Amino acid sequence: MKEKIAEIKKVAKQKIESITTLQELQDLKVKYLGKKGELTSILKGLGSLSAEERPKIGSMVNQVRDELEKSIESAEKAMKAKALEQRLEKEKIDVTMPSKNIALGSVHPITQVIEDVKEIFLGMGYSIADGPEIERTYYVFDQLNTPIDHPARDLQDTFYVTEDVILRTQTSSVQIRTMENQKPPIKIICPGAVYRSDTVDATHSPLFHQIEGLVVDKNITMTDLKGTLEMFVKNCLGPNTKIRFRPHHFPYTEPSAEADVSCFVCGGKGCRVCKNEGWIELLGCGMVHPKVLENCGIDPNVYSGFAFGFGVERIAMAKFGIDDMRLLFENDVRFLKQF
Ligand code: DAH
Repeated sequence: MKEKIAEIKKVAKQKIESITTLQELQDLKVKYLGKKGELTSILKGLGSLSAEERPKIGSMVNQVRDELEKSIESAEKAMKAKALEQRLEKEKIDVTMPSKNIALGSVHPITQVIEDVKEIFLGMGYSIADGPEIERTYYVFDQLNTPIDHPARDLQDTFYVTEDVILRTQTSSVQIRTMENQKPPIKIICPGAVYRSDTVDATHSPLFHQIEGLVVDKNITMTDLKGTLEMFVKNCLGPNTKIRFRPHHFPYTEPSAEADVSCFVCGGKGCRVCKNEGWIELLGCGMVHPKVLENCGIDPNVYSGFAFGFGVERIAMAKFGIDDMRLLFENDVRFLKQF
């Protein structure tokens, strides 16, 4: 019996040493230590031994059992550690590997123009103002001295939400919001989307973008307006750009003007972009109407101001040689990735 136990121990130990997987180890544990295991069956058979032999064999079996348990346990630990090490080795990330190519988008031409213009005016000490696109007629028309029977208020030109709430047709509404909330000196530009009930074609879209400018302070004159706009167009469209002013009418400025710039494609000689005129109509402007200042609680006898507004799409189209406005809104990647 003693030899048999010693043999079991020897064989078991050899097996433990040669085992390579956790599953094999588990099977081995059942084989030797389980309920139907070899050592257990010897213990079960103790009854048939003599009273003298019984305790000796019993304690020998228990000793071998303990020993095998310990060996299996430490083999298990070693195996688990090795498996972890292998996994870590396999999952190691080489941070020096070249990364996958991430396709970078490009800045939309409209955004590019807006960013350029912002940069120019920030450089001249202006701040950026903002206002809602769904706006009260009070800000878009009433406070801007635009009477109830003015054609701009017509249903044909303006998207109405309710009788006195519209999609703003111009960024000039932000002038009022700014002047109502801020004391002069005021120097702002406001870029943003505006809406008009136009049919879509190559030069019209019911949504487009404007940039508004407003300066209010003491002793602001028309020369400040002209000088500022001249500086702006040279910066934005090229140093040889010329600007000319034509008398015009806006309800919120007096006097009012429209400004044209020398064609930045042909330089003024005449081409397809300027329709052979040599000039491109660019913006509306003027000296802020005294009534508008008064509406906002600014004394027109103390302060004066100038304002201007222009369309972003027109500049983007001329600058990038785009001949159809619809391209700017169709989000076709083949078109957009050129800029
Ligand atoms: N709001 C005008 C438009 O949508 C542009 C404009 C003209 C803005 C004169 C002004 C201005 O601030 O003084 O056509």
